[in-house]
Amino acid sequence: MTDYDLIELAKQASENSYSPYSKFKVGAALLCRDGTVFLGCNVENVSFGATNCAERTAIFSAIINGHREFSKIAVVGMSDGKIKDFTPPCGICRQVLKEFCGSDFSIILFDGKNTKTLTMDEITPNWFSEF
Ligand code: THU
Repeated sequence: MTDYDLIELAKQASENSYSPYSKFKVGAALLCRDGTVFLGCNVENVSFGATNCAERTAIFSAIINGHREFSKIAVVGMSDGKIKDFTPPCGICRQVLKEFCGSDFSIILFDGKNTKTLTMDEITPNWFSEF
């Protein structure tokens, strides 16, 4: 599974996005260490705070199916049917990814032309881990 394969799957996932409010369709493809891929899209709600992002949808789908070992995730965001820029995970998704993903996990972004790969350490400095 190349990064471009994973990006392609993220694009496909974005087609199922339910985003009547933002009209921003996000897709995520999460690659497990055993090669299984789980897809996610954003699912919006009229009560905006109830919205679930694509990344969390993918992670939660993997967890409910018994998968907890992940190696990378590709994320794309489409507006007007086009990918116009990189879509890095929001703060809540970063915290959720951090719960399950170690330093070797990669976040692959695509702006329609170029890819950008981020590490967990880059997206979660000084993260909340103890209480
Ligand atoms: N969104 C995601 O799905 N993932 C992100 O990391 C950023 C934001 C969604 C949430 C909402 O449905 C729309 O994009 C606009 O914020």
